[in-house]
Amino acid sequence: MADRIVDLRSDTVTRPTPAMRMAMATAEVGDDVFADDPTVRALEAEVAALFGHEGALFAPSGTMANQIALQLLVPPAGELLAGADAHVVTYEMGAAAAVGGISTRTWPSVGAALDVEQIAAMIRPAGFPSVPTRAIAVEQTHTLGGGSVVAWETLRELRAVAEAAGVALHCDGARIWHAHVAEGVPLNAYGQLFDTLSVCLSKGLGAPVGSLVVSSADRIAQARIIRKRMGGGMRQVGILAAAGQYALRHHLDRLAEDHARAHRLAAGLEPLGVVDATTVRTNLVPLDLTKARLDAPSLAAAAAERGVLLAPMLPRLARLVTHLDVDDAGVDRAIEVLTALLT
Ligand SMILES: Cc1ncc(COP(=O)(O)O)c(C=O)c1O
Repeated sequence: MADRIVDLRSDTVTRPTPAMRMAMATAEVGDDVFADDPTVRALEAEVAALFGHEGALFAPSGTMANQIALQLLVPPAGELLAGADAHVVTYEMGAAAAVGGISTRTWPSVGAALDVEQIAAMIRPAGFPSVPTRAIAVEQTHTLGGGSVVAWETLRELRAVAEAAGVALHCDGARIWHAHVAEGVPLNAYGQLFDTLSVCLSKGLGAPVGSLVVSSADRIAQARIIRKRMGGGMRQVGILAAAGQYALRHHLDRLAEDHARAHRLAAGLEPLGVVDATTVRTNLVPLDLTKARLDAPSLAAAAAERGVLLAPMLPRLARLVTHLDVDDAGVDRAIEVLTALLT
């Protein structure tokens, strides 16, 4: 093993910095189930304001934040429309159905390249015997779409379609920060388009834990009940909210550095024929290994032995993710190791 590991599996692997730990250690706390943790309240108000919404609710994970939002928008036996490759469909262990009684119908996998007309045609009006469509979920940035960004115009068109049909729009905005930094679209402009958003502080922003549901005051009051039902009521959790506040203040704008490193990484790997650097918009670099001499698990194992960690996603698809704990030397090392393995 090399002495220094370059961990490119995900932007969730970051460790809190000493300054973030100090903010956590000195946070004022209370019992958040009684809604009297001042640091949580402050973080919730700050995030709600960033997105131009009335309220926000702190949750322990992006999955729980998504599932709370979906339960707010879709009653049991109602239908959610989402992409076949969406996180809410692919990675949340059937929670929408198991926890919310929600029926999900998917459009084919297109990552961030949404076909608004196709989605519009899928909407089913209320009325027996069909399951009525109650919400549409989109993902920004799109994880399985290689960190791609749903275009602002596409989102506006989708909003118009949703409004005309009387269905709600949810954004799985785990990495909406990355879209904001990459495209320059203000967070509150994104906020206006969605009835609910879930956003994560632990993906790229460097907090150890924490996501929020963002929505209207009424919905957030209901979200509090759903969170408690799901076991997500936490006590002196200001310690974690302080990490989130710190992350928003100090680690949001610097995401541009991660995007630049991802681009440099992709450009360095382009001669291997596994990635097109022009498609890399944010901090994810997908590696298409269809024609490579190693498949994704074999490449991951061989690279790990040389101190570079990457994530196999499918048999012939792997990904590299830049973040706070990956510097220029780490990018150089990854290019060197992967070039040696794939040449
Ligand atoms: C797009 C997206 N949404 C939601 C989540 C879920 O977050 P968590 O792992 O905190 O449950 C993830 C996790 O990586 C994600 O990539």
